[in-house]
Amino acid sequence: MERTFLLLAAFIFSSAQCQDTDPSRDPDASLTVCKPDIRDSGVHSAQILELQGLIQEQAQLNQEQAQLNQEQAQQLKALQESTSAAVPRVGFTVALRQPLGPVPIDITVKYPVIISNIGNGYNLTTGIFTARVSGMYYFSYTMRNNLEAGDNVYTKLYAYRDIYDDRMSHNTFSGFLLFPL
Ligand SMILES: *[C@@H]1O[C@H](CO)[C@@H](O)[C@H](O)[C@H]1NC(C)=O
Repeated sequence: MERTFLLLAAFIFSSAQCQDTDPSRDPDASLTVCKPDIRDSGVHSAQILELQGLIQEQAQLNQEQAQLNQEQAQQLKALQESTSAAVPRVGFTVALRQPLGPVPIDITVKYPVIISNIGNGYNLTTGIFTARVSGMYYFSYTMRNNLEAGDNVYTKLYAYRDIYDDRMSHNTFSGFLLFPL
Protein backbone atom coordinates (compact mmCIF):
# COMPACT_ATOMS: atom_id res chain seq x y z
CA MET A 1 0.00 0.00 0.00
CA GLU A 2 2.76 2.39 1.02
CA ARG A 3 4.68 1.37 -2.08
CA THR A 4 1.68 2.04 -4.35
CA PHE A 5 1.28 5.47 -2.77
CA LEU A 6 4.93 6.34 -3.37
CA LEU A 7 4.70 5.22 -6.97
CA LEU A 8 1.51 7.19 -7.44
CA ALA A 9 3.20 10.28 -6.02
CA ALA A 10 6.07 9.75 -8.46
CA PHE A 11 3.59 9.46 -11.31
CA ILE A 12 1.78 12.68 -10.34
CA PHE A 13 5.13 14.44 -10.09
CA SER A 14 6.10 13.24 -13.57
CA SER A 15 2.70 14.31 -15.01
CA ALA A 16 3.13 17.74 -13.44
CA GLN A 17 6.52 17.98 -15.07
CA CYS A 18 4.94 17.09 -18.39
CA GLN A 19 2.20 19.70 -18.09
CA ASP A 20 4.66 22.32 -16.97
CA THR A 21 6.19 22.31 -20.44
CA ASP A 22 5.20 25.56 -22.12
CA PRO A 23 3.98 24.83 -25.68
CA SER A 24 4.68 28.43 -26.76
CA ARG A 25 8.37 28.00 -25.97
CA ASP A 26 8.65 24.55 -27.47
CA PRO A 27 6.53 23.88 -30.61
CA ASP A 28 7.05 20.11 -30.23
CA ALA A 29 5.99 20.13 -26.61
CA SER A 30 2.39 19.01 -27.34
CA LEU A 31 3.85 15.80 -28.76
CA THR A 32 5.93 15.08 -25.70
CA VAL A 33 3.27 15.92 -23.13
CA CYS A 34 2.36 12.88 -21.01
CA LYS A 35 4.86 10.67 -22.80
CA PRO A 36 7.34 9.07 -20.46
CA ASP A 37 10.69 10.76 -20.85
CA ILE A 38 12.81 7.93 -22.20
CA ARG A 39 15.99 9.96 -21.74
CA ASP A 40 15.24 9.99 -18.04
CA SER A 41 15.81 6.24 -17.96
CA GLY A 42 16.68 4.28 -14.86
CA VAL A 43 14.67 4.56 -11.64
CA HIS A 44 12.05 7.03 -12.95
CA SER A 45 10.82 5.12 -16.01
CA ALA A 46 11.19 1.83 -14.15
CA GLN A 47 8.77 3.22 -11.55
CA ILE A 48 6.32 4.29 -14.26
CA LEU A 49 6.45 0.83 -15.80
CA GLU A 50 5.90 -0.71 -12.41
CA LEU A 51 2.98 1.64 -11.79
CA GLN A 52 1.47 0.78 -15.15
CA GLY A 53 1.82 -2.88 -14.24
CA LEU A 54 0.09 -2.26 -10.91
CA ILE A 55 -2.74 -0.36 -12.59
CA GLN A 56 -3.18 -3.18 -15.07
CA GLU A 57 -3.12 -5.74 -12.25
CA GLN A 58 -5.71 -3.70 -10.32
CA ALA A 59 -7.93 -3.45 -13.41
CA GLN A 60 -7.77 -7.22 -13.82
CA LEU A 61 -8.56 -7.72 -10.12
CA ASN A 62 -11.55 -5.36 -10.46
CA GLN A 63 -12.77 -7.34 -13.44
CA GLU A 64 -12.40 -10.62 -11.56
CA GLN A 65 -14.19 -9.15 -8.55
CA ALA A 66 -17.04 -7.89 -10.75
CA GLN A 67 -17.39 -11.34 -12.29
CA LEU A 68 -17.36 -12.94 -8.83
CA ASN A 69 -20.06 -10.51 -7.63
CA GLN A 70 -22.17 -11.35 -10.65
CA GLU A 71 -21.77 -15.10 -10.03
CA GLN A 72 -22.69 -14.66 -6.36
CA ALA A 73 -25.75 -12.60 -7.28
CA GLN A 74 -26.86 -15.34 -9.67
CA GLN A 75 -26.30 -18.04 -7.03
CA LEU A 76 -28.27 -16.01 -4.46
CA LYS A 77 -31.14 -15.51 -6.89
CA ALA A 78 -31.23 -19.24 -7.70
CA LEU A 79 -31.17 -20.07 -3.98
CA GLN A 80 -33.98 -17.63 -3.23
CA GLU A 81 -36.08 -19.07 -6.04
CA SER A 82 -35.51 -22.68 -4.97
CA THR A 83 -36.22 -21.81 -1.31
CA SER A 84 -39.48 -20.01 -2.01
CA ALA A 85 -40.55 -22.86 -4.29
CA ALA A 86 -39.66 -25.52 -1.73
CA VAL A 87 -41.33 -23.88 1.27
CA PRO A 88 -45.06 -23.50 0.73
CA ARG A 89 -46.65 -20.64 2.60
CA VAL A 90 -49.90 -21.40 4.34
CA GLY A 91 -51.47 -19.34 7.05
CA PHE A 92 -54.84 -17.85 7.82
CA THR A 93 -56.61 -15.76 10.40
CA VAL A 94 -60.33 -15.21 10.20
CA ALA A 95 -62.70 -13.42 12.53
CA LEU A 96 -66.37 -13.61 13.49
CA ARG A 97 -66.96 -9.91 14.28
CA GLN A 98 -70.64 -10.55 15.03
CA PRO A 99 -72.61 -12.58 17.59
CA LEU A 100 -73.61 -16.14 16.70
CA GLY A 101 -76.33 -18.39 18.15
CA PRO A 102 -77.85 -19.89 20.03
CA VAL A 103 -79.07 -22.46 17.45
CA PRO A 104 -80.73 -25.84 18.18
CA ILE A 105 -78.22 -27.91 16.15
CA ASP A 106 -74.48 -28.39 15.87
CA ILE A 107 -73.07 -26.03 13.27
CA THR A 108 -69.70 -25.25 11.77
CA VAL A 109 -68.73 -21.74 12.77
CA LYS A 110 -68.18 -19.77 9.59
CA TYR A 111 -65.91 -16.84 10.18
CA PRO A 112 -66.95 -14.26 7.60
CA VAL A 113 -64.05 -11.85 8.02
CA ILE A 114 -60.78 -12.87 6.43
CA ILE A 115 -57.82 -11.11 8.01
CA SER A 116 -55.35 -13.22 6.06
CA ASN A 117 -55.64 -16.38 3.98
CA ILE A 118 -52.23 -17.12 2.48
CA GLY A 119 -52.48 -20.24 0.34
CA ASN A 120 -56.31 -20.01 0.23
CA GLY A 121 -56.71 -22.94 2.60
CA TYR A 122 -59.67 -21.40 4.41
CA ASN A 123 -62.95 -21.67 2.54
CA LEU A 124 -65.23 -18.77 3.37
CA THR A 125 -68.33 -20.62 2.15
CA THR A 126 -67.88 -23.71 4.28
CA GLY A 127 -65.87 -22.29 7.16
CA ILE A 128 -63.48 -25.21 6.72
CA PHE A 129 -59.73 -25.04 6.34
CA THR A 130 -58.27 -27.64 4.00
CA ALA A 131 -54.60 -28.55 4.37
CA ARG A 132 -53.33 -28.78 0.80
CA VAL A 133 -49.79 -29.25 2.07
CA SER A 134 -48.77 -32.08 4.38
CA GLY A 135 -46.90 -30.87 7.41
CA MET A 136 -47.02 -29.82 11.03
CA TYR A 137 -49.67 -27.21 11.68
CA TYR A 138 -50.48 -25.14 14.69
CA PHE A 139 -54.08 -24.08 15.15
CA SER A 140 -55.49 -21.83 17.76
CA TYR A 141 -58.73 -20.10 18.42
CA THR A 142 -59.85 -17.45 20.80
CA MET A 143 -63.37 -17.28 22.16
CA ARG A 144 -64.95 -14.73 24.35
CA ASN A 145 -67.84 -15.93 26.38
CA ASN A 146 -69.13 -15.16 29.82
CA LEU A 147 -67.80 -18.46 31.33
CA GLU A 148 -69.33 -18.64 34.69
CA ALA A 149 -68.15 -20.85 37.56
CA GLY A 150 -69.70 -24.29 36.93
CA ASP A 151 -69.63 -23.96 33.10
CA ASN A 152 -68.18 -26.92 31.22
CA VAL A 153 -65.77 -26.75 28.30
CA TYR A 154 -64.89 -29.78 26.23
CA THR A 155 -63.83 -30.90 22.76
CA LYS A 156 -66.00 -33.28 20.85
CA LEU A 157 -65.27 -36.07 18.37
CA TYR A 158 -67.95 -36.43 15.70
CA ALA A 159 -69.30 -39.94 14.98
CA TYR A 160 -67.14 -41.90 12.52
CA ARG A 161 -64.26 -39.47 12.89
CA ASP A 162 -60.93 -40.24 14.56
CA ILE A 163 -58.02 -38.46 16.11
CA TYR A 164 -54.55 -39.92 16.03
CA ASP A 165 -52.23 -39.67 19.01
CA ASP A 166 -49.42 -41.53 20.70
CA ARG A 167 -46.94 -40.94 23.52
CA MET A 168 -45.84 -37.77 21.75
CA SER A 169 -49.05 -35.98 22.81
CA HIS A 170 -49.85 -34.50 19.41
CA ASN A 171 -53.26 -33.52 20.65
CA THR A 172 -53.54 -31.27 23.62
CA PHE A 173 -56.26 -29.23 25.20
CA SER A 174 -55.33 -26.24 27.31
CA GLY A 175 -57.08 -23.57 29.30
CA PHE A 176 -55.68 -20.60 31.13
CA LEU A 177 -57.37 -18.26 33.52
CA LEU A 178 -56.22 -14.81 32.50
CA PHE A 179 -57.90 -13.04 35.39
CA PRO A 180 -60.99 -13.62 37.59
CA LEU A 181 -64.12 -11.56 36.99
C1 LIG B 1 -65.45 -23.62 -1.09
O1 LIG B 1 -66.40 -24.63 -0.86
C2 LIG B 1 -67.47 -24.63 -1.78
C3 LIG B 1 -68.49 -25.65 -1.30
O2 LIG B 1 -67.90 -26.92 -1.15
C4 LIG B 1 -66.94 -24.90 -3.17
O3 LIG B 1 -68.00 -24.86 -4.11
C5 LIG B 1 -65.91 -23.85 -3.52
O4 LIG B 1 -65.32 -24.17 -4.76
C6 LIG B 1 -64.83 -23.79 -2.46
N1 LIG B 1 -63.95 -22.69 -2.74
C7 LIG B 1 -62.65 -22.86 -2.90
C8 LIG B 1 -61.85 -21.62 -3.17
O5 LIG B 1 -62.10 -23.94 -2.82
